[in-house]
Amino acid sequence: MAHQERFTERAANGDLTIGIIGLGYVGLPTAIGFHDAGFNVWGVDVSQRTVDMVKAGKNPTGDPDVDDIVPSPGTERWHITDSAAEAVPHCDVILVTVPTPITHDLKPDLSYVEGAGRDVFQSIVKGSRTIVVLESTVYPGVTAQTWHPIIEELGLVIGEDLEIAYCPERFNPGDPAHGVRQVARVIGCSNPEVGAALVALYQKLTSEDVRYVGKLEVAEAAKVIENVQRDINIALVNELARIFPALNVDVEDVLSAAATKWNFHRYTPGVGVGGHCIPVDPYYMIQRAADVGVPAGLITAARAVNRSMPSHVAGVLSDLMWNANVAAGDAKVLLLGWSYKAEVGDPRETPAEPLAETLMAKGITVGAWDPHLDDGSYPEGVEVISDISKAEGYDMAVLVTAHKACLELDWSELVKQMRTPLIYDGRRVLNLEELTSKGWKAYAVGRPYGDGL
Ligand SMILES: NC(=O)c1ccc[n+]([C@@H]2O[C@H](COP(=O)([O-])OP(=O)(O)OC[C@H]3O[C@@H](n4cnc5c(N)ncnc54)[C@H](O)[C@@H]3O)[C@@H](O)[C@H]2O)c1
Repeated sequence: MAHQERFTERAANGDLTIGIIGLGYVGLPTAIGFHDAGFNVWGVDVSQRTVDMVKAGKNPTGDPDVDDIVPSPGTERWHITDSAAEAVPHCDVILVTVPTPITHDLKPDLSYVEGAGRDVFQSIVKGSRTIVVLESTVYPGVTAQTWHPIIEELGLVIGEDLEIAYCPERFNPGDPAHGVRQVARVIGCSNPEVGAALVALYQKLTSEDVRYVGKLEVAEAAKVIENVQRDINIALVNELARIFPALNVDVEDVLSAAATKWNFHRYTPGVGVGGHCIPVDPYYMIQRAADVGVPAGLITAARAVNRSMPSHVAGVLSDLMWNANVAAGDAKVLLLGWSYKAEVGDPRETPAEPLAETLMAKGITVGAWDPHLDDGSYPEGVEVISDISKAEGYDMAVLVTAHKACLELDWSELVKQMRTPLIYDGRRVLNLEELTSKGWKAYAVGRPYGDGL
């Protein structure tokens, strides 16, 4: 039987060892998913804290969906280490799930992809044909451009010693309906037989469609444009949320009216876009377009709109407070929620940070309460509130993150703790009439703010 046919049969029987490099938001649930699907799993992370926590059966990430599912110490087929050299020789397939952030000047930072690739390739057993799959989000061309030189330098041969492939992760942290075991997958690989073998493997992980889509670059590009599209759609609605209040029209009324048409796609405006994906991935596409000399004007403009939302909202908040006669220099804003999305304890790229910084630069005091984050998650200068019943003397409450705990606050109590009863719904999820009946003066992103309600 040919190598790939044997691999496919073993994949169908769960008889393979899978290594996962990077046990973060993506890697840890992926490792657990393959373990649950019956495979032998080796998880590797360079962070000692992560390794110690996972070894102890604890969740080091802020994704609550992972809280109760980390295998306990001693679980069969479950091995955790900080050493790729220890794990790699055991593995038939290695999935690389390391960060792909941007640098301070908004350029792709591929150092983790390069470093993890080197760690893995140095320990590949010659002649093993281990399949190494990059799952991190990148622009088209990264897997080959970053890994081929290292493979060559180490004297390894693709097709004899190893294979490389790309399969982007698309799960949605904090959303159990779109976890690693429920999302469709696409696989890119220059060798269609390896692509077909990986389809058989990922079909054991997810209940949704798994498709071989051809060369690496197709799968790489598919992932990055999924997030580019979301960024553009959100930017449009955020831009409209700035135009319509100036026309004395509520953007949500306009969106509700437009959404009665069969092909209108509705998005909701907000204080900004956060997380490790949407505010980051478009820069990967912008860079790649620049490399080949093609303008990416629309993608660049969308980024600029979404990036400017926190400072736009900060301007609106200060106008609203001055209109309510809050003394300049003594204003206090209370941010409800800090992490970038609901139900997740993840502050990466949260729009709360530039919002708070812009307010503080105007001399406004900023307090923040987020039951999903610990006290060390906030930048210097922000008053961290652990117990919302003790938050007193604020002039403006701002709903930043639609955590259930924020939506279910006792608004009648909170209004009594305020010095000035102003509230701003930065996610368009609150019932403004109800808040008004409880004594608040309520405002919202995209809503004309003449007199509040
Ligand atoms: N978080 C998401 O919602 C999401 C969804 C889809 C795709 N992605 C993409 O997945 C990738 C990983 O994102 P994440 O959110 O899981 O990142 P993360 O920061 O949560 O986790 C990455 C982990 O990799 C570890 N690491 C770094 N270098 C390593 C190395 N050489 N060897 C072993 N471990 C190493 C880090 O210590 C960390 O624990 C990124 O490219 C991201 O864009 C993320």
